[in-house]
Amino acid sequence: MGQEINLLDGYPAAKRPIDERARLITPEHRAVAREFGRDFFDGDRLHGYGGYNYHPRFWTETVRRFRDHYGLKPDASVLDVGCAKGFMMHDFKLLMPGMTIAGLDISEYARDHAIEDMREFIQVGNATALPYADQSFDLVISINTIHNLALEDCKRALREVQRVSRRSAFVTMDAWRNEAGRERMLKWNLTALTYMHIEDWKKVFAEAGYTGDYYWFIAESA
Ligand SMILES: C[S@@+](CC[C@H](N)C(=O)[O-])C[C@H]1O[C@@H](n2cnc3c(N)ncnc32)[C@H](O)[C@@H]1O
Repeated sequence: MGQEINLLDGYPAAKRPIDERARLITPEHRAVAREFGRDFFDGDRLHGYGGYNYHPRFWTETVRRFRDHYGLKPDASVLDVGCAKGFMMHDFKLLMPGMTIAGLDISEYARDHAIEDMREFIQVGNATALPYADQSFDLVISINTIHNLALEDCKRALREVQRVSRRSAFVTMDAWRNEAGRERMLKWNLTALTYMHIEDWKKVFAEAGYTGDYYWFIAESA
């Protein structure tokens, strides 16, 4: 089985005004966010990121952590499922210029507005049906993406991650460890369709036959 491990501990912590968002957010905001278009990435904060722009402080440390933890060779191949505008892919390629990098995202907007050097490596598609052969990648990563699917499709996506990986995989999911965390998650959640206690996610991983590593996005209090 995979390991529960926080490989995102070098990712800068964001301040999340959970109560404020909970007060203002409507079902319509959620519906718009779930289109994963301009409003989600570059619209106002209630629809998503409120401006999704590249900054090296986001992923530089994390891609080093992935390389070291998984012992990636200089010519390794890595897939990012839910790659958005390709920012993590870009930082991977800076760190390991000889590698093969690929990304997939459901958002045409994100691909069309991706960081320029990564655009050609991003495919628009669904995590439930990855357009790659079995065991294509040394490492498959999917951060805060699969939980945007309904439960059965989450399992499909996990099976797909498992299928296209020849060695390692790492996914993160919206989750909670206790009741307070659950309440914060329900207030904060904008796009996820499937979120649950971490122990329940572990059962889903087992049901899907997913043997890669995992960690959680937990809505912490501000
Ligand atoms: C919260 S963002 C995370 C982006 C990036 N992985 C990061 O951590 O910054 C979720 C991403 O998943 C993409 N997405 C949502 N549903 C998807 C699906 N079914 N298949 C592939 N990508 C999906 C969205 O377009 C968006 O780019």
